[in-house]
Amino acid sequence: MDAMTNTGDAASLADLMAARHAFKMHAQDGLCFEDVPLHAIADAHGTPTWVYGAGSMAAQYSALMAAFRAANVSAHVHYAVKANDHLAVLDIFRQLGAGADVVSGGELARARHAGIAAADIVFSGVGKSATEIGTALAEGVGQINVESAEELVMISGIASAMGTVAPVALRMNPDVDAGTHEKITTGVAGNKFGLAQADIPGLYARARLLPGVRPVGIALHIGSQILSTAPYRAAYAKATAMVIALRAAGESVAVLDLGGGLGIGYGDEPGLSLSAFAQTINHATSGLGVKLLVEPGRYLVGAAGLLLASVILQKHDQGKRFVVLDAAMNDLIRPALYEAWHGIMPLSPVDYRAGLSPADVVGPVCESADRFAADRLLPALVPGARVAILDAGAYGAVMSSHYNARPRGAAIMISGGRFHLITPRQDIAALWADEQRLPG
Ligand code: LLP
Repeated sequence: MDAMTNTGDAASLADLMAARHAFKMHAQDGLCFEDVPLHAIADAHGTPTWVYGAGSMAAQYSALMAAFRAANVSAHVHYAVKANDHLAVLDIFRQLGAGADVVSGGELARARHAGIAAADIVFSGVGKSATEIGTALAEGVGQINVESAEELVMISGIASAMGTVAPVALRMNPDVDAGTHEKITTGVAGNKFGLAQADIPGLYARARLLPGVRPVGIALHIGSQILSTAPYRAAYAKATAMVIALRAAGESVAVLDLGGGLGIGYGDEPGLSLSAFAQTINHATSGLGVKLLVEPGRYLVGAAGLLLASVILQKHDQGKRFVVLDAAMNDLIRPALYEAWHGIMPLSPVDYRAGLSPADVVGPVCESADRFAADRLLPALVPGARVAILDAGAYGAVMSSHYNARPRGAAIMISGGRFHLITPRQDIAALWADEQRLPG
């Protein structure tokens, strides 16, 4: 089964609720997230609005750390900033003790602005510009993950000119199929990520000799939304073998960066088993004597966020029902881009219990791909009815655009049973505020 196109369709609304402990359907207040009625947020700030739960994020982090402890794994978490780069989110993970995995100068600047120490930042990515590398070196990032020989030479040149030495890890492409959507698999031969295993020993030795770089270890990341440990087991075995081979060749290898990719349940199915994941790490690395890093993004924030939307109208056409929302693919692009399945939950307790019939849930954008769900069993939803598009905390707002001149939605963080506006709804005029017109 394709993990991204899984049909949570088999799950009823009650099944979706049962699988999400932070959600409750209250008889008067309707759908509550972390004990806050979502109606209150929509009343105060309108829709579409992103809603995140600080408690849910912290709980995910704690569960991961507990699984590591139970499996005797000591791994440092570098939160993958790309999943949700909001400063309020970065604050949460910094306070919990996480570092950051960044893939651009912009993410680096955000992570630094959020107070994450440069030494706790790993800079990954297949195409870092000279400017970005220079900035990362000036900041003193803890590690740069190198994805090509060309990039290694580039970093060497820039660091030498700056009179500094870059700690680099070589990103290995383990040629393991993570069994996930083709658009988010990264660890098979033939995609753009990482270095072929056969090239690593030579490049590691070359890195040792080049000025301005110091090879500290091996990195890998095989893909995203991974639901079974099998691909991890295969990839980590190859990474461990590589560490052993490098050491046998006289290299010093201090760090093994195991990447992210931990999948979550978008329907009512469980996500990746944390204990199985932690045990997989333990089996692959115990006794290896390396510092372990992991780079989870989605697992930490995915289920801790939702997109709150209102029904504009229901349209019936040729026997088909369309529920048209005020949120669209420019807000949450995952269904359009990956055929990703997201639960859609009515806020009203009456709607929640009403009879169901199939509907396509769409946005107002002028593209057929602007569809959140096809043939989804939902109650009749009158104009103004509200829904929560679930599990939108990862790769949601960060992937949004202004297509169709749609301003960015507001964002709310729930913390301690209260909600805080963390991004105001964008003004229409802000869309063109930076634009210059030609004279005359
Ligand atoms: N480390 C590296 C080097 C990565 O490329 C990624 C994600 C991560 C860590 C974090 O992966 P996670 O734990 O979140 O799975 N937009 C897609 C997902 C793209 C993932 C890209 N790389 C989606 O919406 O499903």
